[in-house]
Amino acid sequence: MKRVLLVIGGGIAAYKCLDLIRRLAEKGYAVRCVMTKAAQEFITPLAVGAISNERVATELFDLEGEREIGHIRLAREADIVVVAPATADLLARMAQGHANDLATAVLLATRSIVLAAPAMNPAMWNHPATQRNVRQLETDGVRFIGPNAGEMAEKGETGVGRMAEVSELVERIESLLAEEAAGADNGFGFLTISGTRGRVSSSSAPALAGRHVLVTSGPTHEPIDPVRYIANRSSGKQGHAIAAAARRLGARVTLITGPVQIADPEGVEVRHVETAREMLAAVEEALPADIAVFAAAVADWRVATPGRGKIKKQANAEPPQLELVENPDILRTIAKRGVRRPTLVVGFAAETSTVVENAQAKRKAKAVDWIVANDVSEETGVFGGERNKVHLVTAEGTETWPEMSKAEVAETLLQRAAGFLAQARESV
Ligand code: C5P
Repeated sequence: MKRVLLVIGGGIAAYKCLDLIRRLAEKGYAVRCVMTKAAQEFITPLAVGAISNERVATELFDLEGEREIGHIRLAREADIVVVAPATADLLARMAQGHANDLATAVLLATRSIVLAAPAMNPAMWNHPATQRNVRQLETDGVRFIGPNAGEMAEKGETGVGRMAEVSELVERIESLLAEEAAGADNGFGFLTISGTRGRVSSSSAPALAGRHVLVTSGPTHEPIDPVRYIANRSSGKQGHAIAAAARRLGARVTLITGPVQIADPEGVEVRHVETAREMLAAVEEALPADIAVFAAAVADWRVATPGRGKIKKQANAEPPQLELVENPDILRTIAKRGVRRPTLVVGFAAETSTVVENAQAKRKAKAVDWIVANDVSEETGVFGGERNKVHLVTAEGTETWPEMSKAEVAETLLQRAAGFLAQARESV
């Protein structure tokens, strides 16, 4: 039996933990709970204990508790530690490595996966201090889910800060445990867990098992003549990470990539193309798909008539004029298909100004379900870099995600996509 240690923080979202415990118990998990002092202002240890069927741990220096099960054992016996709601204060104390109460002591002592579900007022979430703590914790290997956009407990306030829904939490816990059980070396380096590998056995299917995920990645090269081409700075890192994440979640994955300097992800069918038109043909050929993520930086224009031979430099002559024509918009073409349109079509929008506004307009214009928007202005270092800071633009609104590695953006996105598909299936 898999053990979940739930660290309940002091926020209004704590009430969701009662449902979370129930749902995890229904799935056969043993749930133990630690509550911070502040959490007990919102829900009582009595209620949590009754639902989890276990004594709730609240005190670090509790003679009786320590005799039964000490904080080190509590930390070590868990296959996953879930912090929900992860308040701004709790995240700050975790980032600093505090251990002055049971919750933080357990979090410092554990060697298991730690999943944090932040919940707080949007101003607190967006504060540089919180964002700094989140980045630190990510570097330390902590995984995050949410916060989501929506209404806050405070009347009339909306924004990013709502704790992830219970169903999303359960799904993420299951997939993290499945990943761990599969001994999946995610190759990212941000998940450095020692001592727990192979200890967990899981029978739950990965979130995207049986699904086909199509991903475009990299730049396109549009020939000027046989030796020259128009290109852009896309490295393919984000698109390839998405393909790898989809594979890890159990999907069959087709990756259609322009010319890049990075290796093909393992276990993925890869089609190498050069031009936008080749990419569109390969995408059409790979359909049908459940999810299509268009992360490629496709050239908007190509040279109308590329030189058949190398264009020669003529002494004292005017430089050649290149006539450009528009390339097909692959994303728009697929999103507007009547038949064989993927259930979820996701586009990327690389912008250098008014990022969110442009993405919202693009989502509508291209009939896309989601747009992942990022600022690629030079100072962000996104092009070719390892990290990304994105906004997810959907029909419901815009979420600003904390800065993450490209691998984490990929994983978070695919987890969300899996949830979208599950809901789409339910509503049929
Ligand atoms: O319009 P813009 O190029 O900013 O849109 C970006 C999104 O559109 C990306 O998802 C990109 O992969 C996709 N796109 C495409 N074909 C094009 C241009 C962009 O699929 N010709």
